[in-house]
Parts: sequence; structure tokens; C-alpha cells
Amino acid sequence: MTDQERQTRYEQLREEIFAVVSGETYLPARLATASCLLAEAFRPRFFWTGFYVVDPLKSEELVVGPYVGTLGCLRIPFTRGVCGACAASGETQLVPDVHAFPGHIACDSRTNSEIVVPVFNSDGTLAAVLDVDSEQPDAFDEIDKAGLEAICAGLLTA
Ligand code: SME
Repeated sequence: MTDQERQTRYEQLREEIFAVVSGETYLPARLATASCLLAEAFRPRFFWTGFYVVDPLKSEELVVGPYVGTLGCLRIPFTRGVCGACAASGETQLVPDVHAFPGHIACDSRTNSEIVVPVFNSDGTLAAVLDVDSEQPDAFDEIDKAGLEAICAGLLTA
């Protein structure tokens, strides 16, 4: 797939995901839809595709939400791992080599690179993070970042 094709694929996916979740009031249904369609579209580069949701009952802790992939860890404090860094900073984390990332949590040792994108509520607070892991080293670039950010930006309101 060329860069142009990948960019177009992200635009199509955004439309498709938003069309499926339009009007849906149950958050896990929205997150499950995005996980499924993203994982299918970019298989096998996307090895683990899913969400960690901010736990409303715990301070600064993520809990696993809908995902496609091998068993994920259940909870991630904001102080740990790539997901924690994304949650704490509110910024996308693009990690070409997870083994070089301080505090990386190895839920599956086959993961070599990763991208984590924040998902915000309409009031600007953090709702969740989208975590995509790959077995390939350096699997993600600016096209993935822009494509995933555009999907995450509208995922709760579409
Ligand atoms: N790699 C993540 C942990 C979650 S999983 O890999 C599914 C991290 O360091 O935040």
C-alpha cells in the first residue's frame, strides 16, 4: 500500500466508523467499532488495536476497554508505559522501538513498535487512549498519526 493509498484508507475508515457509531450512546460500542474496523483494515501490521479507558473511580489510572489482539494488561497507571505517557501528556506517542522506551509495559513480547493517541470528551477531559501495537519495528509514521488522530477526534461525537 502506498502512502497515498494509506492516507485515503484512513479517510474512508473515518467516514465508515463515524457512520456506524452515529447516534450510539454506549461508549464501548463506539470503541469496539473503531477497534474492529482499524484492525481489519491494517492487518497484519496492526497486531494489537484497542482502547484503554480512564477509570472514573480511580485517580489517574487506565483500564482496558474494547480491543482486537492478544491478551492485554488490565490496568495502566498514568505514570507507566506508552499509554500512561499519552494519558498524562494528552499527546500522541509514536514509539518506533518500544524496547528503548522507559517504562514500556510488555503485554505481549512480540510488540516492537507502538502508537498511542488520546481520545477527549467534548469538555476537553481525557476519555481514553487508542493503543496500536505492531510486531514490525518502526511500523508507524506521520500518516498513521494524522489518520488515527482524525478518527479519535470525532469518535465520541460522531
Ligand atoms: N504497550 C503498552 C501497554 C498496553 S499493551 O501493549 C496492550 C504500554 O506500554 O503502554
